[in-house]
Amino acid sequence: MFGLFRKKTSRADYGALGVDMHSHILPGIDDGAPDVETSLQLIRSLLDMGYRQFITTPHIYPEIHPNNRDTITHALATLRTALREAGMDVQVDAAAEYMIDDAFDSTLQQGNLLTLPGNRVLVEMSTMSVPPNLDQSLFQLQLDGYQPVIAHPERYLFVGKSRTRFHDWHDRGYELQINLLSVTGYYSPVVKENALYLLKNNLVHFAGTDAHHHRHTELLGMALKDPNMQRCLEQAQWLNSTLA
Ligand SMILES: [Fe+2]
Repeated sequence: MFGLFRKKTSRADYGALGVDMHSHILPGIDDGAPDVETSLQLIRSLLDMGYRQFITTPHIYPEIHPNNRDTITHALATLRTALREAGMDVQVDAAAEYMIDDAFDSTLQQGNLLTLPGNRVLVEMSTMSVPPNLDQSLFQLQLDGYQPVIAHPERYLFVGKSRTRFHDWHDRGYELQINLLSVTGYYSPVVKENALYLLKNNLVHFAGTDAHHHRHTELLGMALKDPNMQRCLEQAQWLNSTLA
C-alpha cells in the first residue's frame, strides 16, 4: 500500500506500477499523439502521476494504422530527440499493439515482432465479435516462442456475461492487461464490471494507461481519488515494474 504514495507529497499516484506498458504517445503514427509536442505533454502528465518509464505500443493494424518496425523506430527516435532537447531524462522504448485480424497471420509468419521485455507480444482484437483466427493466432504466438499479452480483455464484449473466456485465456497462460480507466466506468458500465471481475478473480497481470490524448491523462489524474482505482492499484500483484 505504501508504494501508492509518493514520499514527497504523500498523495496517491501510479508509482506502484512505475512502468506504463500500453500507450499511444509516439508522434504522428496512429490515433494517439498527433505531434511531438503532444507526446511531451502526455509524458509530462504521466511522470507527474508517478510513472517513471514508458514502453509505448503504437497500433499495428494494417487496414487503419499500417505501422511496422521502421515507422515505429523512426517515431521513437524523433521523440527521444525531443525529450533530450527538452531536458527530460526519461526512458521511453517502443513495442506495438498488434490487431488480430485477417492480416495478423502473415505478420506472424514474417516474424521479428516488436515485443515487450520477456518476448511478450501485446495483442488486441475486435470488441464485438470473436475474430475467426483468434484461438489459432494466440496458440501460434506461443508456439513461436512469444508470450501473448491480451490488451484490455474487459473491453471485449463478445466475452458475454459468463466471462468463461477470461478464465480460458488465463488457463492457457496468456497474460491479461486491463486499462486503468476501465475501473472508473470511462468506457462503459459493462467494461467496468468486467474489469472489476478480472481484478476480483486475480486474472490480471498488467495495468496500462492506453493513453491516446490529453483527456485520458486528465481522467487518469482525477481517477486517483476513485475508490475503485485505489483498490485496483492495491489489489493486484502487478507485473509492470518487472519490465523496467
Ligand atoms: Fe491501445
